[in-house]
Amino acid sequence: MTKPILHRADFGPDFVWGTATAAFQIEGATISHGRGPSVWDTFTQKKGAIKTGENAMMACDFYHRYPTDLALNGQMGFNAFRFSIAWSRILPQGTGRVNEAGLAYYDRLIDEGIRQGQTPWVTLFHWDLPQALEDRGGWMNREIVTWFAEYVAVVVKAFGHKVKHWLVLNEPSAFTLLGYLVGMHAPGRRNFRAITSVIHHAALAQAEGGRVVRSLVPGAVVGTTFSCSPVEPMNRASKRDQQAAHRADALLNRLFIEPALGMGYPTDELTFLNSIKRIARPGDMERLAFNFDLIGLQHYFPVVVEHSMLVPYLWAKEVSPNRRQVPVITEMGWEVHEQSLLRIIRQFNQYPGDHQLFIAESGSAFYDRVEDGQVIDTQRAAYHVQCLQQVRQAQAEGIDLAGYFVWTLLDNFEWAEGYRPRFGLVYVDHRTQHRIVKASGQWFRSLLCGD
Ligand code: FCB
Repeated sequence: MTKPILHRADFGPDFVWGTATAAFQIEGATISHGRGPSVWDTFTQKKGAIKTGENAMMACDFYHRYPTDLALNGQMGFNAFRFSIAWSRILPQGTGRVNEAGLAYYDRLIDEGIRQGQTPWVTLFHWDLPQALEDRGGWMNREIVTWFAEYVAVVVKAFGHKVKHWLVLNEPSAFTLLGYLVGMHAPGRRNFRAITSVIHHAALAQAEGGRVVRSLVPGAVVGTTFSCSPVEPMNRASKRDQQAAHRADALLNRLFIEPALGMGYPTDELTFLNSIKRIARPGDMERLAFNFDLIGLQHYFPVVVEHSMLVPYLWAKEVSPNRRQVPVITEMGWEVHEQSLLRIIRQFNQYPGDHQLFIAESGSAFYDRVEDGQVIDTQRAAYHVQCLQQVRQAQAEGIDLAGYFVWTLLDNFEWAEGYRPRFGLVYVDHRTQHRIVKASGQWFRSLLCGD
């Protein structure tokens, strides 16, 4: 593998380098020490829900292996580790009784990270809603705003003296739209009538969670993270395609950040969101706003759309890379584009506010192969080089970025895709739990440690 053509120092002395993970994807131990079931435990049992038919009962066994996995993170030169807390480990029923063993586990994990010189960045919600709350309507029930605030308070009271970086939600548009509209993710609902409530409750919970953290943690740096993709019209000259692109952009990129910034929902483009007015209570529009310190961008692919009569309300349809004759080298079928991260950084940088942007997830799944005990994933290393060059370009344009988190440390349970797509810098044999630092991980070591 060639030596980095980038230099750590160029990114600035305060730039944070980390990997990002999520509890359900790595922990395993789903029935240990009082953890309650989450919607993802239920969903994985549903026939056909997970493409490979697998579940996450073992995942990467991170629950037991965290000391050595954190050591791998450190060996690759990272000084930050992003992980999420499983709500149902802390509150098995979602509210009420606190499971001390769950708190004790995260306490050990945080302490171990700090001992190894890795700053904990904690995501409060990365999709694994307690099943007990889903049974009460989940994100469709307005009470979730209160349930979430209760959970956040328990967590930050326990760890706020040693954790300063808090991320409230991971990709609200993913868990709301994929979970309650498309049915591809847990809880697997396809409920168009409920989707505006789901969106509104998630947006309220996002701001409310931020307020709880800020009020209870002195010196907290509070953020939240968004999935984002630059959206282009298929035919740039077509007015209809342009409008389709505007609507898709509102849905994919603007839906949750704009209410948080006090701009309200993008109702001009997405008229169906007007129905939120019917369910909103007095004061809600103000309550949606919270001045986050950090906005996390999670970018994986660009999106090209055309006008379509077949998709109600959106009137837009994605044009696949195949149809555009763009070669696809990633296992998820996602296009790699050398400018798309930069485009999305520029787009989000247009928003007013005092917050700082950072890359909260960046990575890709390639067809990794173990040969002679090694994984030479040249494409993944090249992918990160390309992304980091775009980060440098953004910085050169004067855009302030707080850091870069690689998705992800370990090959893990990729939601509805099962274990097949591999995003990690560390290869995991899911039968033996054997780990191999891939060439891309070694490349990061060269970049970050200079050897
Ligand atoms: C993001 C998720 C993360 C992982 C990556 C590939 O949308 O936040 O958990 O699945 O995609």
